Formats: sequence, C-alpha cells, structure tokens
Amino acid sequence: MSNVEIPAGLKELLQGYTVEVLRHRPPNLVKFAVQHFTQILENQRNDQRAQKCSAKSAKKGVTFETNNSTKDDEEDEEDNDKSTTKKCNRRVSVCAEAYNPDDDEDDEAEPRVVHPKTDEQRRRLQDACRDILLFKNLEQEQFSEVLDAMFEVLVKPQEHIIDQGDDGDNFYIVEKGVYDIFVQKDNVSVCVGKYDNKGCFGELALMYNTPRAATIIAMQEGALWGLDRATFHRLIMKNNAKKRRMYEAFIECVPLLKSLELNERMKIVDVLGVRVFKDGERIIMQGEKADCFYIVESGEVKIMIKSKTKASQHNNTEVEVARCSRGQYFGELALVTNKPRAASVYSVGETKCLVIDIQAFERLLGPCMDIMKRNVSQYEDQLVALFGSSVDLKH
Ligand code: CMP
Ligand code: CMP
Repeated sequence: MSNVEIPAGLKELLQGYTVEVLRHRPPNLVKFAVQHFTQILENQRNDQRAQKCSAKSAKKGVTFETNNSTKDDEEDEEDNDKSTTKKCNRRVSVCAEAYNPDDDEDDEAEPRVVHPKTDEQRRRLQDACRDILLFKNLEQEQFSEVLDAMFEVLVKPQEHIIDQGDDGDNFYIVEKGVYDIFVQKDNVSVCVGKYDNKGCFGELALMYNTPRAATIIAMQEGALWGLDRATFHRLIMKNNAKKRRMYEAFIECVPLLKSLELNERMKIVDVLGVRVFKDGERIIMQGEKADCFYIVESGEVKIMIKSKTKASQHNNTEVEVARCSRGQYFGELALVTNKPRAASVYSVGETKCLVIDIQAFERLLGPCMDIMKRNVSQYEDQLVALFGSSVDLKH
C-alpha cells in the first residue's frame, strides 16, 4: 500500500462527507453518501454549464430570458427590474445519466426546487398547465411541487429553445407564442409541426436519456415555463412508472396498437394523459381544430354528425353514427387528414379516455396509419348509408 498514489482531492472529498455525516447524523449512510456526492457532481456541472453558456452566448449572441429567480438573487431583482434578464440557464452538454425512477425511494431527502412566483405568474402558469397530458394524473401534492419548481422563460423571435442533438436540460410548457419543430432527416432540416400557443415539449431527452430529438425555434416573441431535469425525473418519471404499471396490460389489448413493438407501446403509455368525462359531456366538437387522439379505457362515447340534408341542417340536428367502447379509439380522422373534426363526440355515462397529443400521435402511431386510413372508408360508407350522398372525408 505504501507506494499507492492517492488521487488528488480524495482526502478532501471523504473529509467533507464525514463532516456532513457528523453534522446531520443520517440514518442511512449509503443513501446519504449518494445524495452528498450527487450534489457535488451537480454543482460541478452547474459551474461547467455556466461557463459553456457564457461562451456559447458570447459566440452566438444568444439571448435567453428567464425569470427563474432564487431567494438569493430576489433582492437584487427587486432593485433592478421585475423581469430580470438572465443569460442562458440551459444545460448545453452534459452526460445523460441512466435513470431509474424506482431508485428514488426517499422523496423526502430530495432537494425541492422552488422558484418564487407572483400571484399573477402562478395564475398564468396554472392556465398553461391545464391541458398538459403529462400532468394529468399527478397527485395534487406532486402537481403543486411541479408548479413551484417551474420558472418563466421569455423568448425572442428565431430563438432556438432546443437544438437537436443536445443533451436535455429542461422540459417546457408553452404559455404564449408559436414554435416550429424541425427534425433533421438525411442532413436536411424538415419542419414537422408546430406548437401554436399551447402544448409542451422537451420530455423525450429527459425520459429516455437520449439527445434532443428535434430543434424547437420560436417564431415570435413568446413565453414558456421550464421544469428542470431533476424535478422532472423525481415527479413526472416516478408518476410514469406508476402509469406503466397501470396501463401496460390495457395497452397490450388495444387492437389498433397490435402492430407496434412492445417498447413503442410503452412510449405511448409514457406520454398519454388520462381524462374522465361526465355523462353527456362533449369531448370533441365537429368543425373544431384537432390536437389530440383518444382511446376509450372505460365507458362509452357516441359519435354524432350534423346531418347533411337541407331540412335538418336548418335545425342543426345531430345524428348518431357510431359508438366506441373499451379499447376502441376516436379523434384520429382530423389528425390523419389535417382537417377540422368530422363529428362531435359525447360521453355516454362516465367515460375514461387515454389521450395522446398530436405530436406524439404523429411520432408514435405511424405504423398504425394504414389501419386508420382503411377505417376512413368505413366512415364514408356509414355516411352514405345515413345521408344518401357520397362523402369524401380525406380531401
Ligand atoms: P426532446 O427530444 O427532449 O427535445 C425535442 C422535443 O421536440 C422532443 O423532446 C419532443 O417533445 C418534441 N417533438 C415534437 N415533435 C417531434 C418529432 N416529430 N420528433 C421528435 N421530437 C419531437
Ligand atoms: P375526428 O374527425 O378527428 O373527430 C371525430 C371523430 O369521430 C373522427 O375523428 C372519428 O374518429 C370518429 N368517427 C366515427 N365514425 C365516424 C364517421 N362516420 N364519420 C366521421 N367521423 C367518425
């Protein structure tokens, strides 16, 4: 042992840990060690990130306005301006650590991130979060932790919120603005969709520890809410593990999804939200713009179409054309044809639906597209039988 070289810094690290143990007297030394050293690693990364960000901002002239104030800098902010501009708080490139939510047994010990907000900010944030599917089956306590941890991000036209290939730092919710989605295919950047004043993005790199799968660019001035990676892992991923346990078996039995691989079906479970509708509640309104797709988990829905005959059009009468129950889906047509909703859909009794947003639908349900397209012809036949004249739902 006498000629073994002790690595620089080892003594200080162990001493630091020992001091903290003596100060806190934790019941579980191993768990405490994990937390202690994770915190040190996180601090090192923050330092590196800050250096990289300032280098990157200086090079590209990137402006990234945030209002993620901490207690420490709150006083300074008040002295200056309420909407303090901070340059770049994003993690530009760090190693993606493997994450298993089941490792996180001791929630209490996790540091809780809190970005103080005014009442007005909190109200705006709550509005923006209302339809976020990933938050739909969070417990109230978890949801309010998420709200506490979110920070406001003000963006400028042409600003890159996310660049494909980067490591994931934050998850974002759109409060305001239009954001184009670009995906590199064969070295060409293709715009595959957009977020128009609603929606959320940036979950994939955090969920699967993969590089960012798309570039997101602000088309105009806008406002986002960010959620840091650690809080996303602690709350959303943990909830997703529960979701997988709850919906794995059901999703396996949905006929439409049979052609998908198991891991593709699980990715659907990861991004879906659960919504419960009351008896008679309208789920979809004919003629509206579409932004999601539904699978019935329990209960029943009826599909109603405004009649095409002149007399009944005058009365605005709706005719029932079909019903969907457990395992069946609806709301795909407008997403496939890029047209307004072709029918209205109402809950019959209480209905529970799994909901998938348009971006996830397009990304994950490509292999099921043929089946869905084939069904469109059945809808057309139904409509001919009901209204007499031929109907083209696709064009
Ligand atoms: P992430 O990979 O973390 O960062 C880019 C985000 O763009 C991604 O998460 C999704 O939230 C979002 N996105 C929207 N459409 C697509 C798409 N077609 N492919 C990949 N990502 C997409
Ligand atoms: P979408 O047009 O997005 O919203 C209404 C949904 O009703 C539609 O998708 C289909 O999923 C469903 N539907 C069922 N039967 C019909 C039908 N005959 N014509 C149109 N839509 C139908």
